[in-house]
Amino acid sequence: MDETALRELNHNLARQKREVEAALYELLPPEDAFPPRIHAAMRYGVMNGGKRLRPILVREACRIGGGDDAAALPVACALEMIHSYSLVHDDLPCMDDDHFRRGVPTCHIAFDEATAVLAGDALLTCAFHTVAAAELPAILKADIIRELSVAAGSRGMIGGQILDLEAEERVVSLDELRQIHALKTGALFRAALRCGGMVAGMDADSMAAVDDYAAHFGMAFQITDDILDVAGEEAVLGKPVGSDARNQKNTYMSFFSLPQAQQLAADEVLACLKALDRFGPEADILRTLAEYLLTRNS
Ligand code: IPE
Ligand code: IPE
Ligand code: MG
Ligand code: MG
Ligand code: MG
Repeated sequence: MDETALRELNHNLARQKREVEAALYELLPPEDAFPPRIHAAMRYGVMNGGKRLRPILVREACRIGGGDDAAALPVACALEMIHSYSLVHDDLPCMDDDHFRRGVPTCHIAFDEATAVLAGDALLTCAFHTVAAAELPAILKADIIRELSVAAGSRGMIGGQILDLEAEERVVSLDELRQIHALKTGALFRAALRCGGMVAGMDADSMAAVDDYAAHFGMAFQITDDILDVAGEEAVLGKPVGSDARNQKNTYMSFFSLPQAQQLAADEVLACLKALDRFGPEADILRTLAEYLLTRNS
């Protein structure tokens, strides 16, 4: 990616991040709403410096489908609530047992374990409330809720998380690892892009292209996440390095050398770009976002 493209991308992403965070601030229950402890923990799990990639993908898919950014904003926030809940639970002692997330102590460290479990539950519920309460046609909202519930549930992200935990006990095949990644990480990225397309009323061929992009984006994202768990810098990453090895996780870094894993991520990014062939410059942000995965350090 050349320097001007990178600067423009960063500018655009920073603006979108601000807009998403302002909307999240409004959509989450106020910190002092009764009972205050749960609402403080929910906000702690969300308003803490995530990259906001999934909401940005919702908005970009909506935009390339010719839809209205503003209409997609509550759906974008719902995706971030679900993602943030998944992180709060992923860090629990019974899961990955991590103490540091998005540059601050994890929710169960800042509060306590039971509060973190409940805050995660409440964020998931709040996501569905947010979509249900959005100013969108009722049929569209029902379709989005169906899409999100499958992606977040036992056949999606949760399915991937249990396979990830079960795999701590044994060595899995590369096909199994790809399935774990596709579910635990890919499912929410796919839902983000598809829901953005749905808000725009995207045609079936474009939706299939976006779906293809999403599958490769999710894979590239988790491969680079696995790389950063080994080769990242904790202070920049905002979460621990070495968590996967400590938990005996199967990752791309337990299968491959660093250059091999980087090559596999690059192959997935090329597939992302190919999937967008049918789109013009309106998909440039999606293109540069995929390329950014290869150089990200957080
Ligand atoms: C981390 O996701 C969890 C994975 C799915 C690998 P992100 O790297 O998008 O986390 P935040 O939202 O920026 O903190
Ligand atoms: C978790 O994957 C994906 C989720 C569903 C949260 P990881 O366990 O690798 O995510 P990090 O590295 O803790 O962010
Ligand atoms: Mg995990
Ligand atoms: Mg983890
Ligand atoms: Mg990880």
